[in-house]
Amino acid sequence: MRSIQDKVAELVVIAGKEIMKIYDSNFDVEYKKDNSPVTKADKIAEKIITEGLLEINPDYPVLGEEAVSAGQIPKLENEPYFWVVDAIDGTNSFVAHGEEFTVNIALIENKNPVLGVIYWPLKDELFIGSIYSEPYCIIKGKRQKLAVKDYNIEKLDIITNRTSKVADKIKEYKIGNVFRFNSSIKFCKMAQGLADVYIRDKEINEWDIAAGDAILRSVGGVTCDYENNPVKYGRYPFDFKGISAYTSFDLWQKFHFANIRPYYSAIDDAANLIKKGHLVAFPTETVYGLGANAFDDKAVAKIYEAKNRPTFNPLIVHVADFEMIKELVELNDAAIKIIKEYFPAPLTIVLKKKANSKISELLSCGGDTLAIRMPNNKIALELIKKAGVPIAAPSANKSGSVSPVTAEHVAESLGDKVDLILDGGRCKVGLESTVVDLTGEKPVLLRAGAVQIPNCLILNEEQKIKKAPGMLKSHYAPSIPLRINADKPRAGEAFLGFGKTDFNPTLNLSSKGDLIEAAANLFYMIRQLDNGKYKGIAVAPIPNEGIGGAINDRLKRASI
Ligand code: TXA
Ligand code: MG
Repeated sequence: MRSIQDKVAELVVIAGKEIMKIYDSNFDVEYKKDNSPVTKADKIAEKIITEGLLEINPDYPVLGEEAVSAGQIPKLENEPYFWVVDAIDGTNSFVAHGEEFTVNIALIENKNPVLGVIYWPLKDELFIGSIYSEPYCIIKGKRQKLAVKDYNIEKLDIITNRTSKVADKIKEYKIGNVFRFNSSIKFCKMAQGLADVYIRDKEINEWDIAAGDAILRSVGGVTCDYENNPVKYGRYPFDFKGISAYTSFDLWQKFHFANIRPYYSAIDDAANLIKKGHLVAFPTETVYGLGANAFDDKAVAKIYEAKNRPTFNPLIVHVADFEMIKELVELNDAAIKIIKEYFPAPLTIVLKKKANSKISELLSCGGDTLAIRMPNNKIALELIKKAGVPIAAPSANKSGSVSPVTAEHVAESLGDKVDLILDGGRCKVGLESTVVDLTGEKPVLLRAGAVQIPNCLILNEEQKIKKAPGMLKSHYAPSIPLRINADKPRAGEAFLGFGKTDFNPTLNLSSKGDLIEAAANLFYMIRQLDNGKYKGIAVAPIPNEGIGGAINDRLKRASI
């Protein structure tokens, strides 16, 4: 396949050189039925390309802009492979002796773009992206890797900014730079790491975007139609009402799920929803929580319903300050000491419930204890303060599956069962809090986490389940089998590494062998590997010290 890619690259450059000869001469401009300009450069370039493509493979039909204008409309609906050609994208610019016009070829396989080549003749820049090899560009004769940049929701860089469903949503985001480019150059710029999102609310055709889309997909991005679904090619008619494009799947999901909103725009709405008895998912330093007003029985009941959670499994109540804690539980010296030393922290303490507190009975599942946590995350604390009530919150996923560490994970797991998902980016710790029971003489460790309390009693599994019913043996499980302490993968398995490994890992929890980094990556990477591509996940051995104990605890449960 690599050779086809090289041949196509040759073809766009040859066509580009022909175009430039005409660019430098006096040429006539005709206007098509839709009032768009066309020149002999468009026609000559499309002819060169079409002939060249038929030479590469005479069986693949070619969808070309000028051929369609001339009434030659290929039937593509049932074609497994076809080419999409825009000999000059940006003819307007070409005619005006502007700079931004390109030559575009894409190969479509089963309606998806799998190879895209774009040439910018005026600048002599060539861009190539495919599923067959590493994406790259050649700028003034020099080969460079193509790679998108990581987005930052505090400052999204976008290309154009108009009105569409997506553009309405982007108004909620803090915007960094706004760029404008003509033609398919915008896709190339995204693939070079300039911008994160591209929005267009004007009509556009398959040939205008296919090559750019292929290049963007080759670096992990995606192009979507007006309804914000990934574009499929070979439809008829060939136009879209508008499109949007994103440099990553996560970023697409932010705009795809209507209930995901950036925390800085939506926190007041979130607080009001909590007050009114609705469910709000919010970030904490550990994992995303599914929150409800802890004083409101009906609201708390909604949590159990949305998660499909067994009603004998009690919930943690999240507080913002010491005053709230005093209202809810009986404090002893040991508890006060731990609160002073650690809170806010990825730590939950179980204490005796105050007899007259307004807390919903459903939180304790009929018991006389209450689990309390003050998260070390400014968004969570602000939400609790603004709501003015303690917030009951388990992890925001269906019961038994892997805890969510991004807003997108929450939406994938719970969909519209959540009224609002406050997006605060990826959780820093990435594992659920340490749970310690402080009702007895000695602290008892119910769940390992990032915080290690000294001199804790450690229970065996059975005792643990009795004390904290959420510690069911099988928990936190991906949909495929997970095998622990593996030094290499078996056939069909993905390999999740840690530190230096003999075998090249599919993903590495921490290539430098840092346990805190590994914890933060654990659920995120398990989700990435649980993608239908692998039969199972083999995980390298993790040292059992510090937070490594909590990692191994989760891995053991996920492996049952
Ligand atoms: O990091 C965390 O703790 C996250 C974030 C959202 O704060 N929350 C979380 O909640 O992981 P959840 O419901 O998924 O796990 C809470 C654990 C369960 O194992 C539950 O059985 C235990 O805490 N638990 C809650 N209340 C308890 C109580 N009164 N006594 C003993 N265990 C309790
Ligand atoms: Mg054109």
